[in-house]
Amino acid sequence: MKHTTIWKTPAFMTVLMLLSSNAFAEYSKSFEGYKVFNANCFVCHGAQGKGDGPIASKLSDKPADLTVTDELSKISVRDLLRIIEGTTPHGAISSDMPKWGLALPQTQITSLVSYVRYLHRTKHPTSGNPVKGKETYDTYCTICHGKNAKGEGIITQLYDMEPANHTDASAMNKISNKKMHSIIAHGTSGSTLMPGWKEVLSDKEIQNIISYIRLISAK
Ligand code: HEC
Ligand code: HEC
Repeated sequence: MKHTTIWKTPAFMTVLMLLSSNAFAEYSKSFEGYKVFNANCFVCHGAQGKGDGPIASKLSDKPADLTVTDELSKISVRDLLRIIEGTTPHGAISSDMPKWGLALPQTQITSLVSYVRYLHRTKHPTSGNPVKGKETYDTYCTICHGKNAKGEGIITQLYDMEPANHTDASAMNKISNKKMHSIIAHGTSGSTLMPGWKEVLSDKEIQNIISYIRLISAK
């Protein structure tokens, strides 16, 4: 048998890929869910989940507005998963709502549950594109806030500073979208080292970043 080193074997590579994708999914299921939603659900439910997608008017049942709080908040996580998967008892939901369990892997269904939960629970709805926001964030913010956005950037090994943890739900939820926009544009005052970005980033780019922060800090 030919000698192969373990790290070059397909099995080992698969394990590595699984490990890294799991690590990612752990901190931002809602962000993953946003991507799956915009590939599969927006046609009916609309890009912001308001039930106004391009084909909504052609269906006999109007797709649900997933940003409406009262009804959806009462549904348990398990039942929400079943609705999306299509395993609720026959007739419980419109036949215009596809049974996604037949087409999507379970990991994507659980990510969708997180994103749909975010849509009807958040006090800070997104108005930008979080996928573009992540790109900008990875370019300008990770040096301090870190790749995992937990405030663990490389610069913290060189300077005594504590960049905010953008995955911390309770901390981020205390900051309104408007306030966050102002922090990113102008920086924080005093001796802290959070710089302002208004010379570098457009309002739209800042909105995109805020949307990204909202999703990675969603519970
Ligand atoms: C072909 C159109 C269509 C697509 C695509 C679609 N849905 Fe739906 N969805 C509906 C309709 C119609 C309803 C039922 C509305 C009702 O009966 O009030 C619904 C209902 C729902 C509900 C229940 C809402 C409630 O208030 O009970 C959830 C959750 C949901 N969809 C999530 C999703 C997700 C997640 C995706 C993408 C994976 C998706 N839908 C894709 C048409 C669609
Ligand atoms: C030079 C390092 C550095 C860079 C680069 C940086 N930050 Fe910060 N950031 C900080 C520090 C330090 C804090 C904590 C400051 C504080 O608590 O006043 C912070 C705090 C924040 C806060 C929260 C403030 C609060 O009141 O909790 C937000 C939001 C933020 N940064 C967004 C960003 C975004 C978006 C980028 C990229 C466009 C970015 N930061 C780039 C260092 C940085």
